[in-house]
Amino acid sequence: MTVETLRWRNNQLEMIDQRCLPSVVQYLSYSDAQTVADGIQKMVVRGAPAIGVAAAYGIALEAQKYVLLNGADFHKRMAQAFKVLAASRPTAVNLFWALNRMRDRLSDAAQMETVSLARLLLDEAHAIYHEDIEINKTMGAFGASILEDGMCVLTHCNAGALATAGHGTALGVIRSAVTAGKKITVFADETRPFLQGARLTAWELSEDGIDTTLITDNMSGHFMKSGAIDAVIVGTDRVAANGDVANKIGTYMVAVLAKEHDIPFYVACPLSTIDLSIPSGDDIPIEERSSNEVTGYGDVRWAPKNIQVRNPSFDVTPARLVTALITEKGIVYSPSDNKLKALY
Ligand code: MRU
Repeated sequence: MTVETLRWRNNQLEMIDQRCLPSVVQYLSYSDAQTVADGIQKMVVRGAPAIGVAAAYGIALEAQKYVLLNGADFHKRMAQAFKVLAASRPTAVNLFWALNRMRDRLSDAAQMETVSLARLLLDEAHAIYHEDIEINKTMGAFGASILEDGMCVLTHCNAGALATAGHGTALGVIRSAVTAGKKITVFADETRPFLQGARLTAWELSEDGIDTTLITDNMSGHFMKSGAIDAVIVGTDRVAANGDVANKIGTYMVAVLAKEHDIPFYVACPLSTIDLSIPSGDDIPIEERSSNEVTGYGDVRWAPKNIQVRNPSFDVTPARLVTALITEKGIVYSPSDNKLKALY
């Protein structure tokens, strides 16, 4: 996969504008925390691990911008940058995980010169970026071992290279299985309302030459019932301590259908997406996005003016519907409090 979701060029962060894909491939440049936070909020970059990586670079950029300030003013600016980035999106815990890691790095070295701090923070952001790709490849190898040659896998939303620094989580498993020589076909849910499946998953898988069929979200039950689907693999934005999984709206519906049809439901989940501080999925904050995402798309409007709209961007799948979490530490069948704690 040659697409770069984020890249560091000429001391700036460049992010592929995911709102324009697949029709237009263009990169936007970012030079401070506020603009990176806007990019996250407006979905230039999306997907839990990619949001975390972008936020880490947002902190590194802010440090670079204010490197000539005295120590006290520099630290004030940095505290503000952490706040702005933390407010960009609420559900994906990778955002807070990456910000905590950057904050720890900063406070461990707080006495250093600002120039050294800026260098240190940039190194940490680069480390988060590179580790994400390595983790995805490790998860991919574990996940590929449970996919059999000839399987058809359903996925929902985009948990691919575009949702991470590279390779992907759920799509990383599929990529790794294909690379290992297995013939895997994919059904991609369109993923209303923001169409991450139709625009992003369908694009990145077909760019890779992986046999992909696009369906609308309301077709998955039909295909499960008719025996076309052998397994479901999705990504996640936050997993609670008891194994409940938050992911893109519609995932819960897919999990219920998978249970009904005795189809395994796998969740590809780096450890940075597990939030042991939250006992169950009921405590996961669910982002509610603009009604415009439901009443139309782009410049096209199809719903009546002033209609009431709800637009929760995520839902929670209870742990009992999850066959296994695929992590970089291995596969966790029937996730539970004790099994998740044991991963750390
Ligand atoms: O609103 P989005 O596009 O950021 O939602 C993304 C998802 O729900 C993904 O499935 C999740 O972040 C896992 S990405 C590896």
